Amino acid sequence: MSKGLAIMTSGGDSAGMNPAIKCCVEYARKQGYKPYLVYDGLRGLIDDHIFEADRDRCSGILHRGGTVLRSSRSKRFFELQYRQQAYDNLQRRGIGQMIVIGGDGSFSALNQFYTDFGVPFAGIPATIDNDIPGTDYCLGVDTALNMIRQSVDSIRDTATSFSRAFVIEVMGRHCGYLAMVSALSSGAEICLIPELPYDLDSIGARLSEENKNGRTYVLAIVAEGTRMSEHLTRWLTDSLNMDARLTVLGHVQRGGSPTVHDRIMAYKFAVAAVDALQEGKTNAIMTYKDGSFGTIPIDQVAGSRYKIDQDLLKLCAPLAG
Ligand code: F6P
Repeated sequence: MSKGLAIMTSGGDSAGMNPAIKCCVEYARKQGYKPYLVYDGLRGLIDDHIFEADRDRCSGILHRGGTVLRSSRSKRFFELQYRQQAYDNLQRRGIGQMIVIGGDGSFSALNQFYTDFGVPFAGIPATIDNDIPGTDYCLGVDTALNMIRQSVDSIRDTATSFSRAFVIEVMGRHCGYLAMVSALSSGAEICLIPELPYDLDSIGARLSEENKNGRTYVLAIVAEGTRMSEHLTRWLTDSLNMDARLTVLGHVQRGGSPTVHDRIMAYKFAVAAVDALQEGKTNAIMTYKDGSFGTIPIDQVAGSRYKIDQDLLKLCAPLAG
C-alpha cells in the first residue's frame, strides 16, 4: 500500500512554490508515495481542503507565480482542538507525512503538530524576505529581485528625465536582503536597511558634492523594516533641495512567473524534501548553504536569527553613509 504524503504551502506566497509543488508530487509518486494536496494552508488542513494530487491539479502550473494551493495564516492552528481536527483529516486518508513550503512560522506550526501527533514533515524555505536562518536561499527571492530590478529601471527613466530623487521602498519585513541586493544591482546612490547603521549627514555631504559635479537625479532603495521611506523622501527635499518622490513597490514584488533560477531551486528543494522523509528525518528544513544542499533540524531554525550575507553588506555599507 502506498504511503500518504500531503503537500501544502503556508504563509506569504512566493514565486517558485508552484514548481516545488509539481516536483514534490511527481518525485514522491515515483518513490512510492500517494501524494495529496492541502489547499488554503493551515486553514485548509483544519477545514479538510485536502485532495488527491491527480494530474489535472498539477499540470500547467510550473510557470505561474504565487501558489495554486493558495495560502493562509491561521490563528486557529495555535489551538490543540483544531490541530486535532487537522490530524483526523490526515488519518482518514492514511496520510502520515507532510511537506510544507513556506517560512519559519509555518515550520514552527508544523513542528508543534509533529510534537502533538508524531506526523513527520519536511520544510522547503520559500519567502521573498530571504530571512530563514540556516539557508542562504529561499524560493521566490530571485523572482522578487527581478521584479524590483525591472521597476527600478523604469523609475530611473523618469528620474533622469525629470531630474528627481526617488525613494523606492521594498519588502522584506525585518530583513534588508531584497533592498541590499537591489541597491547594488541597480546602482542606487542610497540604501537603508535594518542591518546597517546609516548617517544622513554623511550621505548629504556625499550627494551635495556629486550634485555640484553634475549629478541630476538620485535613487534610494529603502527596506520596509527601517520605516525610513517617508522621512528620507522629506529629507531629500529639505536637505538636498531636490524634487523627491516615494514609490512603495508593495505586493507586486511577490508576484510574477518564477525565474529559471527559482524553478530549478524549487526542483532541487523538492527532491531533497522527499528524500529527507524517506531517510526517516522527522522535522528537517531544506537548506542551500555555501553552494550545497542540506538539511537542518527545525530547532536550529526556530532558535536562531538569520544572518545577512556579510560580503554583500560590506559592499552596501558606503550607500548608507
Ligand atoms: O513575508 C513576506 C512579505 O511579503 C513581507 O515582505 C511583507 O512585510 C509581508 O509579507 C506582507 O504581508 P501581507 O501579505 O500579509 O500584507
